[in-house]
Amino acid sequence: MKSASSTLDVLPNEIHVWYAFPDEIRQTSLLSDYQQLLNPAETQQWQRFHFDKHRHLYLIARALVRTTLSRYTAITPSRLQFTKNAYGKPELIHSDRTPQLCFNLSHTDGLVVLGIVSNQKIGVDVENMERQITTAVEDIARYFSPQEVSDFSQIPAHQRHDRFFDYWTLKESYIKACGMGLSLPLDQFTFHIQEKESLRISFAASLNDDPNNWQFWLFDPTPSHKAAISLHRHPGTEYCLVMKKAVPLVSEQDFSCTILNTS
Ligand SMILES: CC(C)(COP(=O)(O)OP(=O)(O)OC[C@H]1O[C@@H](n2cnc3c(N)ncnc32)[C@H](O)[C@@H]1OP(=O)(O)O)[C@@H](O)C(=O)NCCC(=O)NCCS
Repeated sequence: MKSASSTLDVLPNEIHVWYAFPDEIRQTSLLSDYQQLLNPAETQQWQRFHFDKHRHLYLIARALVRTTLSRYTAITPSRLQFTKNAYGKPELIHSDRTPQLCFNLSHTDGLVVLGIVSNQKIGVDVENMERQITTAVEDIARYFSPQEVSDFSQIPAHQRHDRFFDYWTLKESYIKACGMGLSLPLDQFTFHIQEKESLRISFAASLNDDPNNWQFWLFDPTPSHKAAISLHRHPGTEYCLVMKKAVPLVSEQDFSCTILNTS
């Protein structure tokens, strides 16, 4: 385990993926240190949560974002400043002296995931697969493209719960990378999920996007969680994931999990 304060650098072909496990971070004095990192708007938001569980998840997510980005930018965690695009996607406010980092955050019951890359659009999604969902074909049609609905309807019923989260996390990560929220029509892009290492996307003409611009990963950080990353790649660059687990302000360690599928 390493200290959680050394400076960090992300190479041009790397995505750094940071995990925090909220259920493992309960020390009262540490949580109060995290509260000190919040700006006034974040403190207000943190106080507004009705359930402790959501308040705790929010605090761990903020602590992971601020302490980790601080190490790449050499800006004190509480002094980092963010802006949001028109659809709410948070971005770092850079100065001439800070690296052009892009990041995206996702949180769900039991896990926070933060993806960091140098100057490329990135989207991250994590979902807890213990969540109840419907896999009835008529219900998924409002989230999936016609081709995805057709592919989904042909897989055996016992595989549908798992496959549903493949589609969901991939589609959500693509939407988040584009940063346009649900204004981007979910039925206008299709993930083709076959065997390992054959993941690909196709686009309806209306989206005017090119599959060659993108690289995707689908993975399961824990037996209960599925995650996906979409990256708008720098032309000609093959990216790799570097994974770390952190207790913000305390420790970090290498983290590994199986990549289920990639492009
Ligand atoms: C808000 C949205 C970006 C993600 O919501 P989500 O999956 O509930 O939440 P996640 O935990 O994955 O992501 C939330 C984080 O994404 C970031 N985010 C917010 N708006 C964003 C946007 N437009 N683009 C990218 N990232 C965004 C924020 O950091 C946010 O966390 P914070 O508010 O604590 O800072 C959006 O895609 C949405 O509303 N999705 C609804 C679900 C849906 O129907 N999905 C269809 C998939 S098939």
